[in-house]
Amino acid sequence: MSSILSRSVTNNRSLLYYPIGVRSVQTDSQPKTKQQKIKKFSVYRWNPENPSVNPHLQSYDVDLSSCGPMVLDALIKIKNEMDPTLTFRRSCREGICGSCAMNINGTNTLACICKIEDNLSKDTKIYPLPHLYVVKDLVPDLNNFYNQYKSIQPWLQRKEKSNGTQYLQSIKDRDKLDGLYECILCACCSTSCPSYWWNSDRYLGPAALMQAYRWVIDSRDESTAERLEKLKDPFSLYRCHTIMNCTRTCPKHLNPGKAIGELKKLASGWIQKEKPEMTGQS
Ligand code: SF4
Ligand code: SF4
Ligand code: FES
Repeated sequence: MSSILSRSVTNNRSLLYYPIGVRSVQTDSQPKTKQQKIKKFSVYRWNPENPSVNPHLQSYDVDLSSCGPMVLDALIKIKNEMDPTLTFRRSCREGICGSCAMNINGTNTLACICKIEDNLSKDTKIYPLPHLYVVKDLVPDLNNFYNQYKSIQPWLQRKEKSNGTQYLQSIKDRDKLDGLYECILCACCSTSCPSYWWNSDRYLGPAALMQAYRWVIDSRDESTAERLEKLKDPFSLYRCHTIMNCTRTCPKHLNPGKAIGELKKLASGWIQKEKPEMTGQS
């Protein structure tokens, strides 16, 4: 812990949001000038190297007059100027890499494209993506999420070995991939899905399923039957109950809930054709 932090951290049990404590860090001891726009950020903290300290919210007063407009700007400012121990993922700062996904004021989103609320009297609460193991502070463990993505085999599959020529696609067939290929695998959707919360060991979740659908409908892919066959168990696909949290939260405005609906139709059609004894499974 830095010397700045150890000087200024205090326990403040009266500011509990959940059963976790809140600590507070001031930017400096200078009196606030009229130009300053101080806003409080309450950030989830947990350090596995310090297991005797329970997870807690730590609050930081950030001067927005010298901060960029997005929540990620505030986190970077806190890390650079106030508390270098604060840990979070980020890379592109423009909503492309998906690494800054976190829960901000109750919504899963990307910190780099989430504007800081103007209301200075209301603090911004920041947690890691929900229902995942936490590696440290705002960094969740995404190993299961990535393994599930890997399990749908997200690459073009052909029966014959390529001789180096391109696999052409009509404009109409290419259009079918719009709204699907843009997914940046941020995991905001999967971690907002109640079915995924309770069954993430067996239910693939909206992000992986949308990509499964993307490859099933790709006119160039020749493994459609094998891809659908893999989804036929009661959990991988059919644990989606169309609650649509996934679509509501997607920061890229994609519609994984709809993609899963289409995938269910294709999988059911395939099951009825190929495995009629399975009809009626939900
Ligand atoms: S569908 Fe949206 S929320 Fe889900 S992983 Fe892709 S970009 Fe993120
Ligand atoms: S529509 Fe399906 S995947 Fe999306 S939140 Fe609901 S249950 Fe989860
Ligand atoms: S930093 Fe890349 S999406 Fe936010």
